[in-house]
Amino acid sequence: MITVNDLSIRFGKRVLFDEVNLKFTTNNCYGIIGANGAGKSTFLKVLTGEMESTSGHVSVEKGKRMAVLSQDHFKYDEFPVLNTVMQGHKEMYAIMLAKDELYAKHDFNEEDGIKASELEEKFAEMNGWMAESEGGELLEGLGIGSDKHHMLMKDLSGNEKVRVLIAQTLFGNPDILVMDEPTNDLDIETVAWLENFIVNFPNLVIVVSHDRHFLDSVCTQVVDIDFKKISQFGGNYTFWYESSQLALRQQQNQNKKSEERKKELQDFIARFSANVKKSKQATSRKKMLENLNMDEIKPSSRKYPAIIFVQERDAGDQILNVTGLTLEPYFRDISFSLNKGDKVFLYSKHSIITSKFYQVMNGELEPDSGTIEWGITINQAYLPNHNDEYFQSKLSLVDWLRQYSEEKDETFIRGFLGKMLFSGDEALKECNVLSGGEKVRCMISRLMLSNPNMLMLDEPLNHLDLESITAFNNSLKDYKGTVLFTSHDHHFIQSIADRVVEIGPNGMVDKPTDYDSYREDTEITERRNELYAGVSFESI
Ligand SMILES: Nc1ncnc2c1ncn2[C@@H]1O[C@H](COP(=O)(O)OP(=O)(O)OP(=O)(O)O)[C@@H](O)[C@H]1O
Ligand SMILES: [Mg+2]
Repeated sequence: MITVNDLSIRFGKRVLFDEVNLKFTTNNCYGIIGANGAGKSTFLKVLTGEMESTSGHVSVEKGKRMAVLSQDHFKYDEFPVLNTVMQGHKEMYAIMLAKDELYAKHDFNEEDGIKASELEEKFAEMNGWMAESEGGELLEGLGIGSDKHHMLMKDLSGNEKVRVLIAQTLFGNPDILVMDEPTNDLDIETVAWLENFIVNFPNLVIVVSHDRHFLDSVCTQVVDIDFKKISQFGGNYTFWYESSQLALRQQQNQNKKSEERKKELQDFIARFSANVKKSKQATSRKKMLENLNMDEIKPSSRKYPAIIFVQERDAGDQILNVTGLTLEPYFRDISFSLNKGDKVFLYSKHSIITSKFYQVMNGELEPDSGTIEWGITINQAYLPNHNDEYFQSKLSLVDWLRQYSEEKDETFIRGFLGKMLFSGDEALKECNVLSGGEKVRCMISRLMLSNPNMLMLDEPLNHLDLESITAFNNSLKDYKGTVLFTSHDHHFIQSIADRVVEIGPNGMVDKPTDYDSYREDTEITERRNELYAGVSFESI
């Protein structure tokens, strides 16, 4: 359905990849993986025609319709919800508009009549009369009830907007579905819905994600961008990962007899064939296993960044006192004190509540009432959930980071960028071209530079690749300072938090415990529910 021939993409001297030859066929879901900055989003832009390649070309089978999940969550703010969904089928939407315009004419003549009937015919061919009900059904499936179908997009919460945009992409059953990190900003229920949808989607899906669990549930093929090449493997993420690990072990242990290696391979294949659940995956995996050639699988070249937080000075006993903090309608009467070394998981059912809380804590928003008192020895640092505003200039990465440093020497600055894997010419590129994950890596360099003894982290793992996630996780486990953080990543939360604070419109729950125990604690279930009672999701 899509054929990629001899494709290459270069930015200046840097080759992202070259001589790429691939085919994407229908009835498959391709998961595009690769380190932050490997070129996944760029590759998608070339596939969808948004960007020109340096050389080579992409051809999409004639007459096939492609739908792309919009990354811009504000683009449709002025449109009603159902209308936004229908815009997913551009051709049909254009016909709808043209029809409406004709019928609205005061001097509707014979010619217009002919035109209108042509449009009606096309509209009917596209199943246009079903459009509203299909759009409505998609929305309901995604938990957007009919009471909201005629509201404006700007009046929805962030989470709901993403769901409408997903409905837009899925609308009218496109032949090719393209999504770049669709699970970012989504709650767990919607992720499960999306997984189920993709598994049952009969056409072609191409999706970029760093979420292992999501990739494993949806992918029939893995497309790995590494070594300036793009390679395709049958199977899901775990299968690709395990086989590349096996390839690495076999390469490191060259003197193993070839029979032994063959046996190892057969065992591996047997293990993986045994637990194939989905028929679609079973067929493609069987094919893959028949052709599996270990020499073709290269061990990954991905690197781990060095995330190390050094405290400039040890904190005193007074860390933070929050008293009666209120910001309507998000949270009310929040009071707590932090102890030295606390690692607090700050949770709320609606992520906008925690984000607003961090903004208040960092002086970006004025609370309605309440006080925030920092200890005098505290040197706090904050990683916001959204960072686009930090990267609007054309400063080089060195100059970008220098803004936040008292020590201006380039070697010193480069030290921090190098830890986050920007070295040589990479440290001189303009900060507005950075990929999503690279921006977060820069923000982490900035955090490290300030030698904080207190960290506030709002969804720090969004956009990061697995190596960076692991590095971040380990560094927080070792960190001796105080941490207040919010995340969706179960493993990350469980391995770090020793206290949970949940906040909502009706108050808070504060427990010195780990995350799993908190979730399983039936004694607090009622109190937790009360936090949100009487306040509807929509008003938030
Ligand atoms: N106009 C440009 N000039 C120079 N470099 C660029 C330009 N646009 C993108 N890049 C670089 O190309 C690389 C690939 O970017 P891309 O956004 O495709 O990465 P990605 O694989 O999607 O990463 P992530 O996982 O972080 O989203 C990055 O290192 C980025 O900085
Ligand atoms: Mg990207």
